[in-house]
Amino acid sequence: MIPNPLRTIWLNDQQEVQIINQTLLPHELRVETLHNVEDVYQAIVQMIVRGAPLIGATAAYGLWMACRDASEALLEHEIEKAANYLRSSRPTAVNLFVCIDRMMATISTVKSKSDKTAIALETAHAIVAEDIEICRMIGVHGLPLIEAISQRKAGETVNILTHCNAGMMGCIRWGTITSPIYQAMEKGIKVHVWVDETRPRNQGSNLTAWELGQHNVPHTLIVDNTGGHLMQHDMVDLVLVGTDRTTRQGDVANKIGTYLKALAAKDNQIPFYVALPSTSIDWTISDGLKEIPIEERNQDEVKYFQGLNSSGKIDTVLICPPTTPAANYGFDVTPARLISGLITERGICDATEKGLTELFGMF
Ligand code: MRU
Repeated sequence: MIPNPLRTIWLNDQQEVQIINQTLLPHELRVETLHNVEDVYQAIVQMIVRGAPLIGATAAYGLWMACRDASEALLEHEIEKAANYLRSSRPTAVNLFVCIDRMMATISTVKSKSDKTAIALETAHAIVAEDIEICRMIGVHGLPLIEAISQRKAGETVNILTHCNAGMMGCIRWGTITSPIYQAMEKGIKVHVWVDETRPRNQGSNLTAWELGQHNVPHTLIVDNTGGHLMQHDMVDLVLVGTDRTTRQGDVANKIGTYLKALAAKDNQIPFYVALPSTSIDWTISDGLKEIPIEERNQDEVKYFQGLNSSGKIDTVLICPPTTPAANYGFDVTPARLISGLITERGICDATEKGLTELFGMF
């Protein structure tokens, strides 16, 4: 049964992990069951679940299954093997590694298989509950930004541009960039979202547009190259994007194309903010361009386009000569200097080491 209110991952009455198959949205809302570590790995690799916080949470439940399904004789070895396997699923979003490390640290505090299984489930549930609260708080801290623009415009519509999907479908509930938008809507502030389609996987047209529609948020779908034009013509008040990994100096990796939006925003003096759950901060690295691993995916994602055909079936079509080689970089890095601020669960800070450490006190 689909939970109400909707969320992206949950356990059913049989204690099975349930997720929404995001490769079928917006055409079909299909719930899938993840039975074991292999299902979890495939769900992450194929982007049946995607978005930094959600892949971290899904991997956490995968490690619970690894404990549950491990043999007594090879308990530690099999859990370690599962952790390494899940770590190899996608390279860029740091949440995956943060969640796996946290699960492994907790699991190692107890000895028996039943204790490991129990503590793994408890920790996976905690990761999910924390993400819900983190996103809610990002909304609390992001709301004043939207409010201030609305006041400056004497209550006229605030136009927000976003790229990819950093909404609920990338998290558990609320989402990161959508949380302040939903809270603004609740306060009666007029907002409108420009939704980048986000080629090649179309998280904008498939997921963000669907999600905003579900919440009655006025929005308009645009092709990825439109943002600059809109900014030049005063049609964007704020750019709001998510992140897969943010370094301690504030460089941000996010879906490919984010950097170009940041450049256009800078040229047009438009505020460019990143909604940043602290689980997406990689405190171990500084220089995003040199140190963040950028995922390269199968070229067929660029060469084929998926959609609903005239018979109402989900179909793919080839959009180039069959032999044309394609490159498919999943993410790019926006340097901190192009970012107006980071909206975190603890408040807004500069995209600098000082800004982040003042909020999170890591060093
Ligand atoms: O390849 P994806 O769809 O997993 O990429 C997702 C993004 O780039 C999101 O913007 C990011 O993970 C933030 S989700 C709150």
